[in-house]
Amino acid sequence: MDLYEYQARDLFEKYEVPVLAGIIADTPEEAKAAAEKIGGVVVVKAQVKTGGRGKAGGVKVAKTPDEAYAAAEAILGLDIKGHVVQRVMVAQGADIAEEFYFSVLLDRSNRSYLSLCSVEGGMEIEELAVERPEALARIEVDPLQGIDKAKALEIATAANFPAELVEKVSDVFVKLYDVYKGEGATLVEVNPLVRTGAGDIVALDGKVSLDDNASEVRHPEHEELEDKGAANPLEAKAKASGLNYVKLDGQVGIIGNGAGLVMSTLDVVAYAGENHGGVKPANFLDIGGGANAQVMASGLDVILGDEQVKSVFVNVFGGITSCVAVAEGIVKALEILGDAATKPLVVRLDGNQVEEGRAILAEANHPLVTLAAGMDEGADKAAELANA
Ligand SMILES: Nc1ncnc2c1ncn2[C@@H]1O[C@H](COP(=O)(O)OP(=O)(O)O)[C@@H](O)[C@H]1O
Ligand SMILES: [Mg+2]
Repeated sequence: MDLYEYQARDLFEKYEVPVLAGIIADTPEEAKAAAEKIGGVVVVKAQVKTGGRGKAGGVKVAKTPDEAYAAAEAILGLDIKGHVVQRVMVAQGADIAEEFYFSVLLDRSNRSYLSLCSVEGGMEIEELAVERPEALARIEVDPLQGIDKAKALEIATAANFPAELVEKVSDVFVKLYDVYKGEGATLVEVNPLVRTGAGDIVALDGKVSLDDNASEVRHPEHEELEDKGAANPLEAKAKASGLNYVKLDGQVGIIGNGAGLVMSTLDVVAYAGENHGGVKPANFLDIGGGANAQVMASGLDVILGDEQVKSVFVNVFGGITSCVAVAEGIVKALEILGDAATKPLVVRLDGNQVEEGRAILAEANHPLVTLAAGMDEGADKAAELANA
């Protein structure tokens, strides 16, 4: 799980990494109030889980509370690489003398940790890494040793920090490693880490990725950091019903059992869509082994709640769950949903008790349901209906 900058800032503060005051705001009014509270020059910063906010117009200096209001108004709603800004952080403005770069991350390929560091930090770090890789020190960090003071000094020296700063930045590196280790992170990145005019070292931006596996076991408190609001509301609803659902950008809703079958159904529908106005799969939804009426109803409910969906393709291979249970599930689900079910459903059943399952659907003769003999035929029919 990636954290927002303000969440990273809060963690930094907990570990005594030097940071500046920061207050989150969801409206221009709140941003103005935050600027008043902080006082002096502030910087209004888009809170989205992607980098390059500065270049995208998502970071603005404001000298007065009214300017903070205007900056928030301009930034809220902005689309930064597909992330719409719903919240800003009003941060105390720093008097930047120099910008540095520091990160520590999990280096999976070497089963080790790696620290990257440069005295040339700031918004051009990606270019720097490509054009002058020698300016970016790469120091392997032994997971057992971590970044202690000696290691931190080694990193600062390798990154060419001037002698008078080595000591001071090293202390900050040790604390940033404490965040990395203490929170079970896979990445802690600070860009820029700055030297202020007064000579202080401060983390002005923070990117932290937490290891979800570690979080579940060792950091139950991380659940609070989870982004329930920004996740797609349909995905949130599916998650609440225990469904494995991912929203996609198409028109044909997909329900299947087993991740492999659902994946291939997506492919077949995308292929069939080429003959029907380019319609595409609208989602991934695996209802798993127990395709009973309630699961089917929850799945259909989520898919039908997607306004983009024009038709639904149910593709089930009866294994342990027989086609009879699935067919009964579909019939019951349509009963449960009643008027909420409005879009055509193409159903393809195969496997265990397929004949009996089909007979149940034929018998029910629901006006929205079409039976398909095979997967290709079903995909074609669903795509055709979505394009109608
Ligand atoms: N609190 C602040 N005070 C002064 N300048 C800032 C502050 N926060 C960010 N900046 C400036 O804006 C630039 C971009 O901000 P940053 O938080 O790094 O966003 P991003 O990395 O997404 O572009 C920084 O490199 C820095 O020059
Ligand atoms: Mg940055």
